[in-house]
Amino acid sequence: MKFFIDTANLQEIRDAQDLGILDGVTTNPSLMAKEGITGEENVRAHYKAICDSVDNNVSAEVISTVYEEMIKEGESLAKIDDKIVVKVPIIKDGVKAIKYLSNQGIRVNCTLIFTAGQALLAAKAGASYVSPFMGRLDDIATDGVALIQQIVHIFDNYGFPTEVLAASVRHTMHLLQCAEVGADVATCPYKVIVGLLNHPLTDKGLAQFLADHKKAEDAAKVMG
Ligand code: G3P
Repeated sequence: MKFFIDTANLQEIRDAQDLGILDGVTTNPSLMAKEGITGEENVRAHYKAICDSVDNNVSAEVISTVYEEMIKEGESLAKIDDKIVVKVPIIKDGVKAIKYLSNQGIRVNCTLIFTAGQALLAAKAGASYVSPFMGRLDDIATDGVALIQQIVHIFDNYGFPTEVLAASVRHTMHLLQCAEVGADVATCPYKVIVGLLNHPLTDKGLAQFLADHKKAEDAAKVMG
């Protein structure tokens, strides 16, 4: 499973990249706003800085909701860097935009997916990725991981090349559930990625190893 980081924060992106396990970045207008990035030139410069910090795959979302403007914006975003994947919402004009952009060889991540039907439409239109939001479904007492599993199953049935990119992944259990049901990618905050490291027995075991090593070294010094 690929690991993407879901943030527009450059420090977090660089920290995740430094770990050597990062496969990409997803952003959205809320995450860009959280970093205080406004104005077209600043937004483009920020996407470029993100692209320069990672090996591949940076999702940048269009703001327009009208077909003609969506494709213009998508083409312009794609020109920032080869790593850009244009993120398009699953609305009627979005489906048309996915078809157009993917026909131009531009990779598209179709976002705000909450049903398998939406995912199927996006895949039919040629999306490279669909982003089902599992956490937001769990928020309304609906099983987010069941949706991921359903989409994986449908795409497998027909050999769709579209990758299932689990989004709105809020905690480590979500991430593991995505892996269990075969999501191609999970995008999550930095704290969820590093959260996979945590176990008190690891900390306790390491402290013991180091203490035993020091004891043996000290004893050898006394003897020597
Ligand atoms: O990738 C989409 C993601 O940013 C949404 O996450 O936590 O706002 O539901 P969240």
